[in-house]
Amino acid sequence: MKAVRIYPDASGDGTTMRYEDIPEPVPSPRQVLIRIAAASMNRADILRRNFHGPGGEADPFTPGTDIAGIVEAVGEAVTEVQPGDLVAALLSSGGHAEKVVTHVASTVPLPRGFDASVAAAVPVTYLTCWFPMTSESLGLKPGETALIQSGASGVGIAGIQIAKHLGARVFATAGSDAKVERLRALGVDAAINYTTTDFRAVVLEATKGRGVDYVLESVGGDVFTRSVEVLAPGGRLWIVGNSSGAPEEPADPALIAQKNLTISRFALPSEIPTGGTRRELPRIFDLVAQGVLQPVIDRTFPLAEAAAAYEHLAGRHNVGKVLLIP
Ligand SMILES: NC(=O)c1ccc[n+]([C@@H]2O[C@H](COP(=O)([O-])OP(=O)(O)OC[C@H]3O[C@@H](n4cnc5c(N)ncnc54)[C@H](OP(=O)(O)O)[C@@H]3O)[C@@H](O)[C@H]2O)c1
Repeated sequence: MKAVRIYPDASGDGTTMRYEDIPEPVPSPRQVLIRIAAASMNRADILRRNFHGPGGEADPFTPGTDIAGIVEAVGEAVTEVQPGDLVAALLSSGGHAEKVVTHVASTVPLPRGFDASVAAAVPVTYLTCWFPMTSESLGLKPGETALIQSGASGVGIAGIQIAKHLGARVFATAGSDAKVERLRALGVDAAINYTTTDFRAVVLEATKGRGVDYVLESVGGDVFTRSVEVLAPGGRLWIVGNSSGAPEEPADPALIAQKNLTISRFALPSEIPTGGTRRELPRIFDLVAQGVLQPVIDRTFPLAEAAAAYEHLAGRHNVGKVLLIP
């Protein structure tokens, strides 16, 4: 079968991506073999491509953490799904290939006829927003205001849709006028091109100086500091990513105390061993099936053209999800 594989360069500096034949994996007793219909790309795939050496990926490795496809074979102890079933799966790696084996617990059965491309666009991005946004104590409440940083990213669009579903008024930022237009079309109440406009001024004016109740922060760098500054009293900020690098400076303790702010950090991998992802993913898919959440697919590339897809994502050209189709 064909797979994308990342090899470290001989110099130890950088990597080479190859699209090549590898042996087809065989499921162990609690695993399933899935013929992949669509695989999504995430920022983590770009980062992991360059992360080798001690503590890094095994060499060579196949990226890809969310997929949808047809179960082709199951291990002898699997009863939950059977060959022919359509499933989505959240993987640790291996999704940018024609087939993958994974533990049955990482799969979610989907109704027959569910669009596999839509399904592949769901797990990582929607789960990453779902947990921090639906948190009992630190989530988003109906009627509150939310600021979604990097709103046109895969995570950002999922965050916008979940925030609207939860009844919030939504502000979102993006890096170009074209992306801002797309966000407006997606129902964002105020979309801001942060490269030309100070998002703090827009948010503070629109909230009569109060600020927002909630920020989904995936950019980091200097954006983090400004995100903290636009929080309203009692506001919550969840860090879910650092696309532009770690925050330039820690949040000001005086400001946190003055406004009773809460700053938290979320990492999706921590929800896998607890069973959180397996519990929540079917709820998200129900909302997708009802049309409440509508994954936005920016572009699909043939798996054989994965290198071009990586460039597209790394170049920040996407609005929503980029998919690889084997
Ligand atoms: N916590 C978790 O478990 C978890 C899970 C999944 C993803 N994440 C994180 O969530 C973020 C979004 O992921 P994604 O897959 O949705 O990303 P994506 O679709 O690739 O979008 C990332 C966007 O970030 C913006 N950005 C701002 N500064 C950037 C910079 N210096 N370099 C590159 N992009 C920059 C760009 O949008 P503009 O052009 O509009 O600026 C870019 O298109 C990432 O930080 C990722 O690591 C976290």
